[in-house]
Amino acid sequence: MRYDFDRTIDRRGTGSTKWDMLTTRFDAAGALPMWVADMDFESPKPVVDALIQRAQHGVYGYTMKPDDYLDAIAGWQKRRHGWQIQTDWISESPGVVSGLSWVVDALTKPGDKILIQPPVYHPFRALVEALERTVVENPLRFDGGRYSMDFDDLRAKAKGCKALILCSPHNPVGRVWTPDELRELGTICLENGVLVLSDEIHADLILPGAHHTPFGSLGEPFARGSVTCIAPSKTFNLAGLATSVVILPDPSLKARYEAHLNRLHVRAGGIFGNLALTVAYREGDEWLDQLLPYLGANRDLVMENLGRGPIKPSTTEGTYLMWLDCRALGMADEPMDQWFRHEAKVVMNAGAMFGTGGSGFMRLNVGCPRSMVADALSQIEAAVGRLRR
Ligand SMILES: Cc1ncc(COP(=O)(O)O)c(C=O)c1O
Repeated sequence: MRYDFDRTIDRRGTGSTKWDMLTTRFDAAGALPMWVADMDFESPKPVVDALIQRAQHGVYGYTMKPDDYLDAIAGWQKRRHGWQIQTDWISESPGVVSGLSWVVDALTKPGDKILIQPPVYHPFRALVEALERTVVENPLRFDGGRYSMDFDDLRAKAKGCKALILCSPHNPVGRVWTPDELRELGTICLENGVLVLSDEIHADLILPGAHHTPFGSLGEPFARGSVTCIAPSKTFNLAGLATSVVILPDPSLKARYEAHLNRLHVRAGGIFGNLALTVAYREGDEWLDQLLPYLGANRDLVMENLGRGPIKPSTTEGTYLMWLDCRALGMADEPMDQWFRHEAKVVMNAGAMFGTGGSGFMRLNVGCPRSMVADALSQIEAAVGRLRR
């Protein structure tokens, strides 16, 4: 079937973080919410149909996973990314951040050093610090348009570190790492006994022209020296169903992770999350194949329009998040955030929250109908025009 991503769906009053917090958190009623990372699109029809059917049953007691849950996950990885995973590598978590927290808690000790590559998704630092581990930064390099990894810096810092949290594809800078980049990072980590925790939540959101390589698919030593977190939540817009997957190819790491979950008595998914994950990974290709060019065209619209003014978007190869270099506006971070919110009436995430290298940037979410992207662009353009007068 053909999906209509141009259709505007009113999410206000549904308990939507993105829309309903415009008033409760930002005091910005009427602004366009282009911040937190979910999309304004309906999920694939097979998923919606399966959830409605299950909801109609009316009995929601303790549950097991659908029979083809594991095969659906493995089939998706193989079909979409060419990575043959074994079903006994698969474990679970309610979300990728909770999964990363549990992995760090289970597999490292307080005081251990953990690498991150800022500017990066802010919970990485927060969870490492909350668990009383020590953050070591390996900042990305920026050439004014595109980001890359600083391998010399990584080589100098990796010794003595226990883990590195990799964001692949990278939120917020939008890079889809190449096999060569991942292999070089992986080799440095293997040589230094650094476990790679690869957050691949955005792996399926690869825009035309790029190609995602799962870290664990680089070969056996890389697979065994890593833990990969994936989820259907970003891909199919299911974040509210709280379900994700932790892939641990090394049996001893998997046993330690699962022992940790058992100790805490925590589990994931629930009836609706498990069902949605299974159906999405089994039948979601058609929807995703239509979504990706749509997101690519949203990105291109932003590149073309903003590219002409003082705000410079960096190359976005994956995710629906665009990283805007706003330093030419000459504002400090907090006033700039307020200015976008109240003058341009577009709510974004302030770059400073992503740590080192984020100051002066804003993160724009284009996972929405094109009309909303176009409105945001004209509102930003008009506000910049007023600023310059
Ligand atoms: C890189 C990355 N990891 C994890 C998450 C959040 O995942 P979850 O809601 O499953 O904890 C996000 C959400 O924006 C993200 O961008």
